[in-house]
Amino acid sequence: MTERARLSEPTDFGEEQYPHALVNVTNVCNLDCRHCFVFRADNPNAPRDKMNDATMLHQLAELRDKHGIRSMLFMGGEPMIRKDLVLQAVQLFPESAIVTNGTYGIPSVPGHLVTVSLDGPAELNDPIRGDGVFAKVREAVFARDPADGTTVMLQMAVTRENAPGLEDFMAEVADWPIAGVAFSFYVPVKDDSTGLAWPDLKERDKVLDRVIALKRQYPHMIKSNIPTLEMMKSDVAIQSTGENGEHCILRRDTLPLYMGEGGQFEKPFCCYGNDVDCSRCGAYAVFNRAYLAAQGRGDAARYGRDGAAKLAALAE
Ligand SMILES: C[S@@+](CC[C@H](N)C(=O)[O-])C[C@H]1O[C@@H](n2cnc3c(N)ncnc32)[C@H](O)[C@@H]1O
Ligand code: SF4
Ligand code: SF4
Repeated sequence: MTERARLSEPTDFGEEQYPHALVNVTNVCNLDCRHCFVFRADNPNAPRDKMNDATMLHQLAELRDKHGIRSMLFMGGEPMIRKDLVLQAVQLFPESAIVTNGTYGIPSVPGHLVTVSLDGPAELNDPIRGDGVFAKVREAVFARDPADGTTVMLQMAVTRENAPGLEDFMAEVADWPIAGVAFSFYVPVKDDSTGLAWPDLKERDKVLDRVIALKRQYPHMIKSNIPTLEMMKSDVAIQSTGENGEHCILRRDTLPLYMGEGGQFEKPFCCYGNDVDCSRCGAYAVFNRAYLAAQGRGDAARYGRDGAAKLAALAE
Protein backbone atom coordinates (compact mmCIF):
# COMPACT_ATOMS: atom_id res chain seq x y z
CA MET A 1 0.00 0.00 0.00
CA THR A 2 1.39 3.46 -0.87
CA GLU A 3 1.89 6.09 1.84
CA ARG A 4 -0.92 8.20 0.28
CA ALA A 5 -3.35 5.27 0.29
CA ARG A 6 -2.91 4.88 4.04
CA LEU A 7 -4.01 8.46 4.74
CA SER A 8 -7.65 8.78 5.73
CA GLU A 9 -9.92 10.99 3.66
CA PRO A 10 -11.63 14.08 5.12
CA THR A 11 -15.18 14.07 6.44
CA ASP A 12 -17.78 14.83 3.75
CA PHE A 13 -18.87 18.45 4.24
CA GLY A 14 -21.07 18.57 1.12
CA GLU A 15 -20.45 20.38 -2.12
CA GLU A 16 -20.50 24.02 -0.90
CA GLN A 17 -17.70 26.34 -2.00
CA TYR A 18 -15.92 28.14 0.86
CA PRO A 19 -13.33 30.78 -0.11
CA HIS A 20 -12.19 30.85 3.53
CA ALA A 21 -11.62 28.25 6.23
CA LEU A 22 -10.13 27.90 9.66
CA VAL A 23 -8.57 24.85 11.23
CA ASN A 24 -7.94 23.96 14.85
CA VAL A 25 -4.69 22.05 14.35
CA THR A 26 -4.68 21.01 18.00
CA ASN A 27 -7.08 21.08 20.94
CA VAL A 28 -4.15 21.49 23.30
CA CYS A 29 -3.30 24.88 24.80
CA ASN A 30 -0.77 26.06 27.37
CA LEU A 31 -3.08 28.89 28.52
CA ASP A 32 -6.57 28.87 29.97
CA CYS A 33 -8.20 32.14 28.95
CA ARG A 34 -11.52 32.89 30.58
CA HIS A 35 -13.23 34.11 27.41
CA CYS A 36 -12.11 31.25 25.13
CA PHE A 37 -14.85 29.80 22.93
CA VAL A 38 -12.82 26.74 21.88
CA PHE A 39 -13.04 24.96 25.22
CA ARG A 40 -16.74 25.50 25.80
CA ALA A 41 -18.68 22.37 26.75
CA ASP A 42 -20.65 22.09 23.50
CA ASN A 43 -17.64 22.15 21.16
CA PRO A 44 -15.49 19.35 19.76
CA ASN A 45 -12.32 19.98 21.80
CA ALA A 46 -11.07 16.81 23.49
CA PRO A 47 -7.27 17.11 23.65
CA ARG A 48 -6.77 13.39 23.11
CA ASP A 49 -8.25 13.52 19.60
CA LYS A 50 -5.57 14.29 17.07
CA MET A 51 -4.69 13.79 13.44
CA ASN A 52 -1.08 13.10 12.46
CA ASP A 53 0.86 15.61 10.35
CA ALA A 54 0.82 13.69 7.06
CA THR A 55 -2.94 13.07 7.30
CA MET A 56 -3.67 16.69 8.13
CA LEU A 57 -1.59 17.99 5.22
CA HIS A 58 -3.34 15.54 2.90
CA GLN A 59 -6.84 16.37 4.15
CA LEU A 60 -6.29 20.13 4.05
CA ALA A 61 -5.14 19.92 0.43
CA GLU A 62 -8.17 17.75 -0.44
CA LEU A 63 -10.57 20.16 1.24
CA ARG A 64 -8.86 23.14 -0.46
CA ASP A 65 -9.43 21.58 -3.87
CA LYS A 66 -12.96 20.38 -3.18
CA HIS A 67 -14.29 23.59 -1.60
CA GLY A 68 -12.17 26.20 -3.39
CA ILE A 69 -10.54 27.39 -0.16
CA ARG A 70 -8.23 30.37 -0.83
CA SER A 71 -7.44 31.56 2.66
CA MET A 72 -6.82 29.46 5.73
CA LEU A 73 -6.65 30.58 9.34
CA PHE A 74 -4.57 28.30 11.54
CA MET A 75 -5.58 28.23 15.19
CA GLY A 76 -6.25 25.86 18.07
CA GLY A 77 -5.83 25.52 20.96
CA GLU A 78 -2.36 26.93 20.47
CA PRO A 79 -1.21 26.25 16.89
CA MET A 80 2.48 26.78 17.68
CA ILE A 81 2.40 23.58 19.74
CA ARG A 82 2.42 21.95 16.27
CA LYS A 83 4.80 24.45 14.69
CA ASP A 84 6.43 22.07 12.16
CA LEU A 85 3.04 21.03 10.82
CA VAL A 86 1.71 24.60 10.66
CA LEU A 87 4.77 25.91 8.80
CA GLN A 88 4.24 23.27 6.11
CA ALA A 89 0.45 23.67 5.96
CA VAL A 90 0.70 27.46 5.53
CA GLN A 91 2.26 26.81 2.11
CA LEU A 92 -0.85 24.94 0.89
CA PHE A 93 -2.88 28.14 0.61
CA PRO A 94 -2.40 31.40 -1.28
CA GLU A 95 -3.32 33.33 1.85
CA SER A 96 -2.62 31.90 5.27
CA ALA A 97 -2.85 33.40 8.71
CA ILE A 98 -1.78 31.99 12.06
CA VAL A 99 -3.48 33.17 15.25
CA THR A 100 -1.22 32.52 18.20
CA ASN A 101 -0.94 33.42 21.86
CA GLY A 102 2.70 34.38 21.20
CA THR A 103 4.19 32.46 24.11
CA TYR A 104 6.19 30.13 21.81
CA GLY A 105 7.69 33.03 19.84
CA ILE A 106 6.42 34.54 16.60
CA PRO A 107 6.74 32.23 13.57
CA SER A 108 8.34 33.50 10.37
CA VAL A 109 5.96 32.98 7.41
CA PRO A 110 6.99 35.43 4.68
CA GLY A 111 4.02 36.58 2.60
CA HIS A 112 1.52 35.49 5.24
CA LEU A 113 -0.06 36.92 8.37
CA VAL A 114 0.56 36.18 12.05
CA THR A 115 -2.00 37.56 14.47
CA VAL A 116 -0.82 37.66 18.07
CA SER A 117 -3.47 37.80 20.77
CA LEU A 118 -3.16 40.23 23.66
CA ASP A 119 -6.17 41.29 25.67
CA GLY A 120 -5.19 44.68 27.01
CA PRO A 121 -2.31 46.19 28.96
CA ALA A 122 -0.41 43.82 31.29
CA GLU A 123 -2.65 44.46 34.31
CA LEU A 124 -5.76 43.44 32.34
CA ASN A 125 -4.19 40.93 29.93
CA ASP A 126 -2.47 38.79 32.55
CA PRO A 127 -5.54 38.02 34.71
CA ILE A 128 -7.11 36.69 31.47
CA ARG A 129 -4.10 35.05 29.74
CA GLY A 130 -1.83 34.25 32.67
CA ASP A 131 0.86 35.83 34.84
CA GLY A 132 3.79 37.23 32.89
CA VAL A 133 2.19 36.54 29.49
CA PHE A 134 2.11 40.20 28.40
CA ALA A 135 5.87 40.61 29.04
CA LYS A 136 6.66 37.32 27.30
CA VAL A 137 4.67 38.27 24.20
CA ARG A 138 6.23 41.74 24.12
CA GLU A 139 9.67 40.17 24.23
CA ALA A 140 8.78 37.80 21.36
CA VAL A 141 7.42 40.63 19.21
CA PHE A 142 10.60 42.66 19.71
CA ALA A 143 12.87 39.63 19.21
CA ARG A 144 11.66 38.77 15.70
CA ASP A 145 13.26 40.01 12.50
CA PRO A 146 10.90 42.79 11.37
CA ALA A 147 12.20 42.49 7.79
CA ASP A 148 11.44 38.77 7.30
CA GLY A 149 8.36 39.44 5.16
CA THR A 150 5.81 38.23 7.74
CA THR A 151 2.92 40.60 8.50
CA VAL A 152 2.49 40.65 12.29
CA MET A 153 -0.54 42.16 13.95
CA LEU A 154 -1.94 42.21 17.46
CA GLN A 155 -5.55 41.31 18.20
CA MET A 156 -7.48 42.22 21.32
CA ALA A 157 -10.72 40.39 22.09
CA VAL A 158 -12.67 43.12 23.88
CA THR A 159 -14.94 42.05 26.73
CA ARG A 160 -16.82 43.92 29.42
CA GLU A 161 -13.87 43.23 31.74
CA ASN A 162 -10.92 44.43 29.68
CA ALA A 163 -12.68 47.25 27.80
CA PRO A 164 -11.51 49.84 30.38
CA GLY A 165 -7.92 49.22 29.19
CA LEU A 166 -8.39 50.08 25.51
CA GLU A 167 -6.69 53.47 25.60
CA ASP A 168 -3.77 52.30 27.79
CA PHE A 169 -3.29 49.31 25.53
CA MET A 170 -2.99 51.49 22.43
CA ALA A 171 -0.63 53.92 24.19
CA GLU A 172 1.58 50.97 25.09
CA VAL A 173 1.70 49.14 21.73
CA ALA A 174 1.60 52.14 19.38
CA ASP A 175 5.37 52.09 18.83
CA TRP A 176 5.84 48.31 18.70
CA PRO A 177 7.36 46.87 15.50
CA ILE A 178 4.04 45.52 14.16
CA ALA A 179 1.83 46.15 11.14
CA GLY A 180 -1.20 47.06 13.24
CA VAL A 181 -3.77 46.26 15.90
CA ALA A 182 -7.19 44.69 15.34
CA PHE A 183 -10.11 44.76 17.76
CA SER A 184 -12.76 42.09 17.88
CA PHE A 185 -15.48 41.79 20.51
CA TYR A 186 -16.61 38.94 22.71
CA VAL A 187 -18.83 36.25 21.20
CA PRO A 188 -21.04 34.88 24.02
CA VAL A 189 -23.02 31.68 24.33
CA LYS A 190 -26.76 31.83 24.77
CA ASP A 191 -27.48 32.67 28.45
CA ASP A 192 -23.81 33.58 28.92
CA SER A 193 -23.07 33.77 32.64
CA THR A 194 -19.38 34.76 32.49
CA GLY A 195 -20.04 38.46 32.99
CA LEU A 196 -17.86 39.13 29.91
CA ALA A 197 -20.76 40.01 27.60
CA TRP A 198 -22.74 43.24 27.63
CA PRO A 199 -26.29 42.30 28.71
CA ASP A 200 -27.59 45.28 26.72
CA LEU A 201 -25.79 46.03 23.44
CA LYS A 202 -26.29 49.75 24.08
CA GLU A 203 -23.53 49.45 26.68
CA ARG A 204 -21.24 47.93 24.02
CA ASP A 205 -21.98 50.96 21.79
CA LYS A 206 -20.05 53.14 24.25
CA VAL A 207 -17.01 50.90 23.87
CA LEU A 208 -17.36 50.96 20.08
CA ASP A 209 -17.35 54.77 20.24
CA ARG A 210 -14.09 54.63 22.18
CA VAL A 211 -12.54 52.33 19.55
CA ILE A 212 -13.73 54.76 16.85
CA ALA A 213 -12.07 57.64 18.75
CA LEU A 214 -8.85 55.60 18.98
CA LYS A 215 -9.02 54.87 15.25
CA ARG A 216 -9.06 58.63 14.66
CA GLN A 217 -6.04 58.98 16.97
CA TYR A 218 -4.08 56.03 15.47
CA PRO A 219 -5.48 55.82 11.93
CA HIS A 220 -2.68 53.69 10.47
CA MET A 221 -2.03 51.47 13.45
CA ILE A 222 -5.64 50.40 14.09
CA LYS A 223 -6.84 48.16 11.27
CA SER A 224 -10.53 48.06 12.23
CA ASN A 225 -12.41 50.55 10.03
CA ILE A 226 -15.03 53.03 11.23
CA PRO A 227 -17.94 52.01 8.92
CA THR A 228 -17.58 48.39 10.10
CA LEU A 229 -17.47 49.47 13.75
CA GLU A 230 -20.64 51.51 13.14
CA MET A 231 -22.33 48.38 11.75
CA MET A 232 -21.72 46.68 15.13
CA LYS A 233 -23.91 49.25 16.94
CA SER A 234 -27.01 48.01 18.79
CA ASP A 235 -29.57 49.55 16.41
CA VAL A 236 -28.21 47.75 13.31
CA ALA A 237 -26.02 44.81 14.44
CA ILE A 238 -28.77 42.22 13.97
CA GLN A 239 -28.88 43.04 10.24
CA SER A 240 -25.40 41.51 9.81
CA THR A 241 -25.91 38.54 12.13
CA GLY A 242 -29.61 37.54 12.39
CA GLU A 243 -30.99 36.03 15.60
CA ASN A 244 -29.52 32.65 14.64
CA GLY A 245 -26.79 33.46 12.16
CA GLU A 246 -29.17 33.63 9.19
CA HIS A 247 -27.62 36.89 7.92
CA CYS A 248 -24.04 36.04 8.83
CA ILE A 249 -21.77 36.00 5.77
CA LEU A 250 -18.89 34.50 7.80
CA ARG A 251 -21.05 31.46 8.45
CA ARG A 252 -21.71 31.06 4.72
CA ASP A 253 -18.25 31.70 3.32
CA THR A 254 -15.95 30.17 5.97
CA LEU A 255 -15.58 26.46 6.67
CA PRO A 256 -14.70 25.86 10.34
CA LEU A 257 -12.66 22.69 10.83
CA TYR A 258 -12.58 21.61 14.47
CA MET A 259 -10.71 18.54 15.63
CA GLY A 260 -13.47 16.11 16.50
CA GLU A 261 -13.89 12.59 17.76
CA GLY A 262 -11.40 10.02 16.54
CA GLY A 263 -9.12 12.75 15.19
CA GLN A 264 -11.39 13.59 12.25
CA PHE A 265 -12.48 17.12 11.31
CA GLU A 266 -15.91 18.26 12.46
CA LYS A 267 -17.82 21.33 11.31
CA PRO A 268 -19.54 23.17 14.18
CA PHE A 269 -22.36 25.71 13.75
CA CYS A 270 -19.86 28.49 12.93
CA CYS A 271 -16.23 29.53 13.44
CA TYR A 272 -17.07 30.27 17.09
CA GLY A 273 -18.35 26.76 17.67
CA ASN A 274 -21.80 25.65 18.80
CA ASP A 275 -24.35 27.30 21.10
CA VAL A 276 -23.39 30.88 20.19
CA ASP A 277 -25.58 33.92 20.77
CA CYS A 278 -25.64 35.50 17.31
CA SER A 279 -27.76 38.42 18.52
CA ARG A 280 -24.81 39.54 20.68
CA CYS A 281 -21.97 38.37 18.41
CA GLY A 282 -18.98 40.71 18.48
CA ALA A 283 -16.85 39.09 15.78
CA TYR A 284 -15.41 41.98 13.76
CA ALA A 285 -15.04 39.68 10.72
CA VAL A 286 -18.83 39.18 10.56
CA PHE A 287 -19.48 42.90 10.25
CA ASN A 288 -16.49 43.53 8.00
CA ARG A 289 -17.79 40.89 5.57
CA ALA A 290 -21.19 42.64 5.57
CA TYR A 291 -19.46 45.99 5.00
CA LEU A 292 -17.36 44.66 2.09
CA ALA A 293 -20.41 42.98 0.55
CA ALA A 294 -22.34 46.26 0.73
CA GLN A 295 -19.42 47.90 -1.07
CA GLY A 296 -19.51 45.26 -3.81
CA ARG A 297 -16.15 43.95 -2.58
CA GLY A 298 -17.45 40.67 -1.17
CA ASP A 299 -14.61 38.67 -2.68
CA ALA A 300 -11.85 40.96 -1.42
CA ALA A 301 -8.75 39.07 -0.25
CA ARG A 302 -9.34 38.27 3.40
CA TYR A 303 -5.89 39.19 4.60
CA GLY A 304 -5.30 41.98 2.12
CA ARG A 305 -2.43 40.43 0.24
CA ASP A 306 -2.02 39.18 -3.30
CA GLY A 307 -4.03 35.98 -2.94
CA ALA A 308 -5.13 35.73 -6.57
CA ALA A 309 -1.59 35.83 -7.92
CA LYS A 310 -0.45 33.23 -5.42
CA LEU A 311 -3.41 31.00 -6.24
CA ALA A 312 -2.42 31.10 -9.90
CA ALA A 313 1.15 30.20 -8.96
CA LEU A 314 -0.03 27.27 -6.82
CA ALA A 315 -2.19 26.01 -9.68
CA GLU A 316 0.72 25.98 -12.15
C1 LIG B 1 -9.33 30.74 20.20
S1 LIG B 1 -7.80 31.60 19.99
C2 LIG B 1 -6.76 30.36 19.26
C3 LIG B 1 -5.39 30.84 18.91
C4 LIG B 1 -4.45 31.17 20.03
N1 LIG B 1 -4.47 30.22 21.07
C5 LIG B 1 -4.69 32.57 20.55
O1 LIG B 1 -5.09 32.74 21.70
O2 LIG B 1 -4.48 33.48 19.75
C6 LIG B 1 -8.13 32.70 18.61
C7 LIG B 1 -8.62 34.08 18.99
O3 LIG B 1 -9.95 34.01 19.45
C8 LIG B 1 -10.11 34.94 20.51
N2 LIG B 1 -11.27 34.53 21.31
C9 LIG B 1 -11.32 33.51 22.18
N3 LIG B 1 -12.55 33.41 22.72
C10 LIG B 1 -13.29 34.41 22.19
C11 LIG B 1 -14.64 34.80 22.33
N4 LIG B 1 -15.48 34.16 23.15
N5 LIG B 1 -15.06 35.86 21.62
C12 LIG B 1 -14.23 36.51 20.77
N6 LIG B 1 -12.95 36.18 20.58
C13 LIG B 1 -12.47 35.12 21.27
C14 LIG B 1 -8.80 34.85 21.23
O4 LIG B 1 -8.60 35.95 22.09
C15 LIG B 1 -7.82 34.78 20.07
O5 LIG B 1 -7.48 36.08 19.62
S1 SF4 C 1 -4.49 30.90 24.31
FE1 SF4 C 1 -6.03 30.91 22.68
S2 SF4 C 1 -6.82 28.80 22.57
FE2 SF4 C 1 -5.63 28.97 24.46
S3 SF4 C 1 -7.20 29.37 26.00
FE3 SF4 C 1 -6.40 31.35 25.29
S4 SF4 C 1 -7.75 32.03 23.60
FE4 SF4 C 1 -8.12 29.84 23.98
S1 SF4 D 1 -21.99 33.71 16.41
FE1 SF4 D 1 -21.32 35.35 15.05
S2 SF4 D 1 -19.96 34.31 13.60
FE2 SF4 D 1 -21.21 32.71 14.52
S3 SF4 D 1 -23.00 32.47 13.13
FE3 SF4 D 1 -23.55 33.88 14.79
S4 SF4 D 1 -23.19 35.91 13.89
FE4 SF4 D 1 -22.02 34.43 12.67
